Parts: sequence; C-alpha cells; structure tokens
Amino acid sequence: MNEPALLANYSRAPVRFVSGDGCYLVDEEGRRYLDAIAGIAVCALGHAHPEIADAVARQSRRLVHASNLYFHEPSGDLARELTRRSGFARAFFCNSGTEANEAAIKLARKAAYRRGERDRNTILAFSGGFHGRTLGALAATANPEYKIGFAPLPEGFAWAPFNDIAALDAAIDDRTAACIVEPVQGESGVHPAREDFLHELRRLCSERGALLIFDEVQCGMGRLGDLFAFQSVGVRPDLLTMAKALGNGLPIGAMLVDGAFAEALQPGDHGSTFGGSPVSAAAALAHLHIRDKLDLDAHVRTVGARAMEGLAAIARALPAYVEAPRGRGLLLGLPVREPLRAVAIAEELRERGILVGTGGGNTLRLAPPLIVSLEEIDLLIAAIASVVAGMGARAAK
Ligand SMILES: Cc1ncc(COP(=O)(O)O)c(C=O)c1O
Repeated sequence: MNEPALLANYSRAPVRFVSGDGCYLVDEEGRRYLDAIAGIAVCALGHAHPEIADAVARQSRRLVHASNLYFHEPSGDLARELTRRSGFARAFFCNSGTEANEAAIKLARKAAYRRGERDRNTILAFSGGFHGRTLGALAATANPEYKIGFAPLPEGFAWAPFNDIAALDAAIDDRTAACIVEPVQGESGVHPAREDFLHELRRLCSERGALLIFDEVQCGMGRLGDLFAFQSVGVRPDLLTMAKALGNGLPIGAMLVDGAFAEALQPGDHGSTFGGSPVSAAAALAHLHIRDKLDLDAHVRTVGARAMEGLAAIARALPAYVEAPRGRGLLLGLPVREPLRAVAIAEELRERGILVGTGGGNTLRLAPPLIVSLEEIDLLIAAIASVVAGMGARAAK
C-alpha cells in the first residue's frame, strides 16, 4: 500500500481506515480493529462520538472561523471551563502540542525580559523528554536523533538527567527562564516522573525564579486518572501545555497560565490565525461536558489498574521477553527484551485486529480511548500475552 503523492515522512502501516466507533477503527475492507493507541492518545472518548460530532456539526453551521481579531463564543467558553477546572488564570489557544510548547517557551522568556532579567533565557529540559517538531520545541527535545540535519536550532536550551534529584541543583541557575518536563514521558517509552523529583523541581524553580512548565500534551486530559496530570502528581506548574485529546480529534492545543505570569504576553507578542477556532473549541467543550457525565476519572483508574496488572502478569510469566510495565492511568509501556522487537509485536497485533503503539527503548505503548471497557482491556492483554509468547517461542528455536 502506498500513496506516492503524500510526503514519505512517516513509516505508515499498510492499512487505510475509513471509519470508527467507540474503541474500534474500521478499514476499507470492513475489518474492525480494537484501538489501543487512540490516534496517539488523542481520541479519549473514542472515535466518532455522536455528541462531539453534533457539537462540531452545529458549530460549523453557525461559525467556522472569525480569527483572533475578535472574540468568539466557543473559545471564551472553553477558556472559562479550563481555567475554572485547573485554577489557572488564563488560556491561550493554538492548534497542536508543539505550538503550545512554543508559546510556553516564548512566555517564559518574555516574563524574564519584562522583569529586566535580560540574561535569563535558558530553557532547561530533561533527558528522554519530547516536546514537538517545530524548531523551538525540537530544540527542547533531548533526543539528538530527531535533530539530525536541522541545525542550526535555536539557542538557549539545556538538559538535565530525568528523575535525578541531585543533578537539579547545579542545572537550575539565575539564567534559567523555565524548566519544561512531562509528568509522564510518552514518546521515550512511558517513563513517569518520580513525585519527589517533581517536588524538588518545583521547589528549586520557585526559589531561583524559573518558571515550571508541565508538558501535558500526551499525559493530560484525563489520561492519568485526573483531568490534568498535575492533579495526579500533586505538583502545580506555572504554565501547562496541552493538545492531543483536548478536542478528541479536532486540532486544538492550549497553554494555561498562572495569574502571576498572565501579563507576560501583550498584544502583538504572540498569536495564531486558527488558534481556538470555533469548531475545535466546540469539540473541546463537548469533550469536557461528556467526561463529567461519564465519571471518567474513576473509570480510568479502574481500567488502568486492570491493564497494569495484566501487563505485570505477562512480565512475570514471560520474563525472558518483557520487563515490568511502566506508567500511570491509561498511559502504559511494556518494555520488550531483545531479540523480540516492540515494532514487530505491534505489527503482529495489528494483523490480529489490535492497534498498539511503540515508544523509545523497545517499548510497547498503550494509550487506548479512556472509555475502554474492562472486557476490552482483558482482550488486549490476552492478545499481547499470546503474541509475545508465540514470538518468544519462535525466537528460542
Ligand atoms: C509530550 C509531548 N509534547 C509535545 C508533542 C507534540 O505535539 P504535536 O504532535 O501535537 O505537535 C507531543 C507529541 O507526541 C508529545 O507527546
């Protein structure tokens, strides 16, 4: 399967999806797949949710676009909902995770600049972190492989080892404008930040005048079992970035800003033509209202615990092929041992009608829709166990 007119910048699986419902995607031959990656942690309420579809249809008949030269109804409502639920003072809307992080980097530098601290412009990020593909967010991303051939990248970025409390003291100084961290790293293979690490990071940022940015693009919007990841880990950042699941598939990103920094960006400092578009904002608002009715956070904790137990049982049963699982809520990683490869396991699962993701360090990544049922989790775990056992037996021959 190929689409020669599409730029070949992705290694796509040879399957073409035409529709979806709930936790299932359907390909052009009518085959149904249990989706345990949800468009990379996007479709939290599953595919083609009827109430989201209605909200999008209603809004697109009323007003699709007016630009940020004016106010429009859904973005104001969405900002109110997000600030009320998070306790942050203001929201900025954009279209993706990488843009949300660009906004946070710019705001952190401008806040220091406005205070007259012209040399405070370093953004400290962490090993294993992933913050996006635009040049600023890419510069913050630690993994050098993503950067090959794209030099020169913007200056003013530094990295410290993730989850290493002792290294923080030397890494944060009077030139640090902000520290950016994922409460649970997704792309690098699902690595949760230790809570004592986040507490010490918070303490040092406050003490030394650096802003703390939580990149909740992948782990936010309910994935860890609370609406915001910072609520799950018990540490409050100054800026929070989100995207992916916010619009349940409609493109929208956001930066939430604590009141102390809400004046840092003034008219003309930053912007986006489409950011907070009425249709995407209407989808995000519908998402928030639907999740309230579903008591989604309690559900995520229950099914997430079942998935974690299932993965742990696989690791106990097949220790030669997989290691103990990592993660929180419904963002889970199962590290695979050589000679087995996570990518090959994902391929075989796909052939059996189950979609999973992979992450750095030979890891199988699970990020199913948050509405996934216990039965679907059991099915998924049984399929992973069977594929790993089968591949392991073949490798051992
Ligand atoms: C933690 C994190 N930040 C930022 C991004 C970039 O988001 P986007 O692809 O929407 O630009 C991602 C994407 O995977 C991510 O996982």
